[in-house]
Amino acid sequence: MNDDARARLIAALEDRYRRRTPKGFRIHERARKVMVRGGSHTLRLWSPYPVSLSRAKGALIWDADANAYTDYWQGHYANILGHNPAVVLRALRGIHEEGALQTGFEEAVQIELAEIIQRQLGWEGNRVRFTTSGTLATMYAVMLAEAYTGRELVLKVGGGWHGASPYLLKGVHFDPVRGFDHADSAGVPSALSRKTLVTRFGDLDSLKAVLKAKGDRIACFIVEPFLGAGGFLPAPKDYLREARRLTERYGVLLIFDEIISGFRFAPTGLQTLYGIRPDLSTLGKLIGGGHAVSAVVGRADIMGGCEARAPRGRRVVFEGGTFSAHAEYVAAGLALVKHLIRHADEVYPRLARLGERLRRGIASAFAASGIEARCTGGGNDVVPGSSLFFIHFPRSGAPFRTVDDLHDPRVSDADLRERILKLALLNEGVHVMHGGGAVSTAHDDAAVLRTIDACAEVGRLFKTYA
Ligand SMILES: Cc1ncc(COP(=O)(O)O)c(C=O)c1O
Repeated sequence: MNDDARARLIAALEDRYRRRTPKGFRIHERARKVMVRGGSHTLRLWSPYPVSLSRAKGALIWDADANAYTDYWQGHYANILGHNPAVVLRALRGIHEEGALQTGFEEAVQIELAEIIQRQLGWEGNRVRFTTSGTLATMYAVMLAEAYTGRELVLKVGGGWHGASPYLLKGVHFDPVRGFDHADSAGVPSALSRKTLVTRFGDLDSLKAVLKAKGDRIACFIVEPFLGAGGFLPAPKDYLREARRLTERYGVLLIFDEIISGFRFAPTGLQTLYGIRPDLSTLGKLIGGGHAVSAVVGRADIMGGCEARAPRGRRVVFEGGTFSAHAEYVAAGLALVKHLIRHADEVYPRLARLGERLRRGIASAFAASGIEARCTGGGNDVVPGSSLFFIHFPRSGAPFRTVDDLHDPRVSDADLRERILKLALLNEGVHVMHGGGAVSTAHDDAAVLRTIDACAEVGRLFKTYA
């Protein structure tokens, strides 16, 4: 598709979107007068203006103009049972009747959730501390690692999104000239940014090289066992095994960021399926049942760094948080996590089956119009099945060799995926984010088939502009 055809396609899509959503436009105009770009989360503020939600239930959301969409974003992947699941709403009604607004006191529910997390991850001697976002959890994990090791460098992978903490706002977005090796945000002191090193996900040679060169100064290696925003890719088993062996050898702490993967593929973390024990892990999303709960989990000796009696100069101030382990939030998370454990035999095979059907169906739907669409998000020899999908439009038939290829506009048409596909699918009643999303247990075969049909329609439309 040349630039001119692309511009005409976008104009046609925007025109149809505007005609479908006049109320949504007026709501956005009002929002723009009081909030930066009309909202509080850039991902939600797509062009020309976002969906104004009026209702959400199960697999569906409805906008202010009463258009229905099958939703695959599902609350930033927090809603594995779909929107507003009965089991969580029931728990919330119960805790509201008891009077949940007693912020600031120890609540019994947090003990139960911590016990479940400790038991399900299955490692002896883990300790849990709750906070309110994935960003905070990963930031505290890094601070604990630096305090424990007395080292200052942090190693992460290109494409790894761990939230917007100053330590980790590097190597998130791909740049055709600099690749992933650059700071992603202004406002982070350059001295701090220089202390964050970026290696390539799944690339053992690059990991070995950086550890050999700087291993004795690196505090931690933080990595998702299933790369999330970077492209929905499961880590090869050998990569994580070697990462564990090498980090131990260099005295570097291994942090698994399981904010997306925790309880998503099984009622535990991926660390349990890989059989690899990280020193620290972070959990979020599902453990809050749609609320602001996250956790750092890990070896008691490292977690002890945030105890009041930790040695002076080594103590990590991971202790504030007006709403940390808030009873209402934790009750929701507890209800969801218990449900996942109790119904694991139904939930996970169902998600895996629907996910696989959707990934295959999407690829075939586009292929019918002669467009190659590759869906990542599937499992591997360790991850048994997956609810996730991420649609890529390669520029040539050549296989993707590295994560960089998924984001390099010369190799993969990221603009078609991130911007144009989104709008085209919205017009067909499907909501995706980053060209993908996740099925929930509220999705069924009919929803998946509707989505595949929508992709076929979008494929035909793209072809007319090719
Ligand atoms: C792997 C991972 N880590 C950390 C975060 C940050 O979590 P939060 O948005 O709750 O701050 C995210 C958010 O999507 C994530 O996917």
